[in-house]
Amino acid sequence: MRAKIPFRLLLLFLAGTQYPATDIHAQHARIKIYIDRTVGEVNKNIYGNFVEHLGRCVYGGIYDPGNKLSDKDGFRKDVLAAVKQLNPTVIRYPGGNFVSNYNWLDGVGPKTERIPRLELAWGTLETNQFGTNEFMQYARAIGTEPYISVNMGTGTIEEARRWVEYCNVKEGPYYAELRKKHGYPEPYNVKYWSLGNEMDGPWQMGHLSAEDYSKKALEAAKLMIRTSPGIKLVAAGSSNYRAGADPDHWNRTVLHELKDVIDYIAIHMYVGNPDSNYYNFVATPLVLEQRIKLIKGMISEAMQTASRGERDPIYIAWDEYNVWYRARGGDAGRGKRALEERYNLEDALVVAEFLNAFVRNADVVKMANMAQLVNVIAPVFTNETGMFRQTIYYPLELFANNVYGTSLDVFVDCPTYPTKKFSLGVGESSTQQTKVPYLDVSAAYKDGEVILCVVNRNKEEAITTDIMSQSGAFSGDMQVTEVNGPDIKSGNDFDREPVHSSNKPAIKTNGNTITYSFAPHSFTMIRGRVTK
Ligand code: AHR
Repeated sequence: MRAKIPFRLLLLFLAGTQYPATDIHAQHARIKIYIDRTVGEVNKNIYGNFVEHLGRCVYGGIYDPGNKLSDKDGFRKDVLAAVKQLNPTVIRYPGGNFVSNYNWLDGVGPKTERIPRLELAWGTLETNQFGTNEFMQYARAIGTEPYISVNMGTGTIEEARRWVEYCNVKEGPYYAELRKKHGYPEPYNVKYWSLGNEMDGPWQMGHLSAEDYSKKALEAAKLMIRTSPGIKLVAAGSSNYRAGADPDHWNRTVLHELKDVIDYIAIHMYVGNPDSNYYNFVATPLVLEQRIKLIKGMISEAMQTASRGERDPIYIAWDEYNVWYRARGGDAGRGKRALEERYNLEDALVVAEFLNAFVRNADVVKMANMAQLVNVIAPVFTNETGMFRQTIYYPLELFANNVYGTSLDVFVDCPTYPTKKFSLGVGESSTQQTKVPYLDVSAAYKDGEVILCVVNRNKEEAITTDIMSQSGAFSGDMQVTEVNGPDIKSGNDFDREPVHSSNKPAIKTNGNTITYSFAPHSFTMIRGRVTK
């Protein structure tokens, strides 16, 4: 008898499609959850965000005095509402590259007396109408934790210390009194401070070698901690993975030299799809995960000789991540409308995968900040008369409002595909994944409920999946929410949001296994009770 070639395969062959070769066992998968097989606590700060003085993130984004959509403090009310819904748990400010030539004193005091400065990171005029106190007010309005980056480029360690005093010391010394004079009697008690931004990058103003940075950051840390004991310090880890860079040397040196004083090491990563190769692009978050594992090992190494008393080990703060490749370089990378990336569905899937990776590595990733909040590579996009939610808003909103508790070490068995040696799309070294699973999965367990997050990378086919609880039965209905859209290239705009999240029919449970079919190019969150 002649072997039958499935009609679909024949069509693909004839069409010469780029659909990747899959493993043999078709589009069927298994996920196993065992409540006692845990990774660590999901820290709420992995749903952080980032506000930089860059393009229209601050001016014309969150802050737009005079606009009829703004409140008495100049905050755009429509933007504030969308941001609150996003539930950002911590917001990093004021940069980014901007901070490496920023004197925080320029941004405090009476607005009429604030001096405009040339902004050298992004090539604009910084009016300084928005500064530390305005940011603190904004953070309060959202109900988020402020996180300040100090200037380790052109700034001095004493400038950094004075900023801590201005923010955190109740009264007495000059800068605490200055804050009071400016109309803010109570200290802000800012807990998170980072010792500079991307100091490993030659693009950074005041860029340093690993050794010089570590020396400066150590002295800054000493002064800052003495000014406000109890603050949490974040060292600038690797951001430069371009050819010729040595991120491992940077991270090892920083960890070794600062191991007694820092609480986090900050890592940055952006990815893109300049070759329009969907399957390579949606595999890029696996590279982030490889980096997490590498840095986790370096942290363990540094901890062996650290003197930290009872303090926690050093954790990773992934304090910049996103898709960023279109609005990069040239006019799109500088000036008043810099970095206005417009996102599509495939970008939203990549963001969901980043978040899955943070949850899967919850034992060591304790902070993450999507770069950035509004207009600049951001989930919220404005013009003078309105705003819309970009595609990447939806996975972040779902995670930040649902995925808490204990991260579970989930078993996943699903079809895979190979990728070619690929570039991350941002001028960085390329890598290759031989077996990329079509399903990207994380799970958390909280108060008797399991929250399962699944990206189906397959852009053509649904993947029918048996989801098994190995520790107890599922009970009641399981709620299903899906982020999807008509096509992987579909994007949102002011008048339409074809990519969004929507509730799907609940899954009825009856025992230890449920079966669900994950739609092509989708992110799905399933939430429901499981007995322990
Ligand atoms: O987020 C945009 C920029 O990317 C930041 O200013 C910088 O830290 C990174 O290179």
